[in-house]
Amino acid sequence: KKVGVLISGSGTNLQALIDHTQNPAVDSAAEIVVVISNKAGVKGLERARKAGIPTQVVNHKDFPSRLEFDLAVSSILEDYGVEYVCLAGFMRILTGDFVRKWEGRLLNIHPSLLPSFKGAHAHKLVLEQGVRVSGCTVHFVAEEVDSGAILVQEVVPVEIGDTEETLAERVKTVEHKAFPKALELLASGKAKLGENNKVIWSD
Ligand code: GRF
Repeated sequence: KKVGVLISGSGTNLQALIDHTQNPAVDSAAEIVVVISNKAGVKGLERARKAGIPTQVVNHKDFPSRLEFDLAVSSILEDYGVEYVCLAGFMRILTGDFVRKWEGRLLNIHPSLLPSFKGAHAHKLVLEQGVRVSGCTVHFVAEEVDSGAILVQEVVPVEIGDTEETLAERVKTVEHKAFPKALELLASGKAKLGENNKVIWSD
C-alpha cells in the first residue's frame, strides 16, 4: 500500500517508518512513496532523500488559506497514488475538508496517552499534573484535534526529576515502535475505521 508521510521537523518518527517499511526482513504491507514537509531544510527531508524517497516542500506561508494549502498537499499525495497518510510530527492543523477526504486513511502520532493531555504541550501538562506514566498514541485523525479512534498506545514511566526534554526523549523511543506497528495494522487490513469513530479489528 502506498503511503505518504507529512512532517515539519526532525523526522525521527519518519525514520522509524522508513526503517520498518524498507526492512527486507519485515515484508511490510506499506511502502512510503513521498514525504511532504511544510518547512524547507528540515532534517526529516534529508532522511527521506537518503532512503531514496521523493520529497516535496509545501510552505504553508505561500498559501492564502489553510484550505488552499491542504488542497496542494492532497494533490501531491494523489499524484503519487497515496492510499494512506501518516502525520509524523506535522505541526499544522488540517481542515475538515482534508480530514474528511482522507478519513480512515489518515494516522497521527501524539506524545501522550490520549484522551489525556491533548494539544501541542503534552509533556508540559503531564509534568504539571504529576501523573507517573505517559506514553504515545497512534490514532485515526478525526476533525476534532487528537480525538480519533486509537490504534496503538505504548507506555513509559515518568521519572523523578524529568523535564519536558527528558520525558519527550523517553516517549519518542516508544513512538518509534508504535507508529510502524499502527501503519502495519492499517496497511495489512487488520484494523480499519468503522462507524462512530470505532476501530474494526480482524485477524
Ligand atoms: C513527536 O513527539 C510527535 O509525537 C509529535 O511531534 C514529534 C515529532 O518528532 N507530534 P519527530 O519529527 O518524528 O522526531
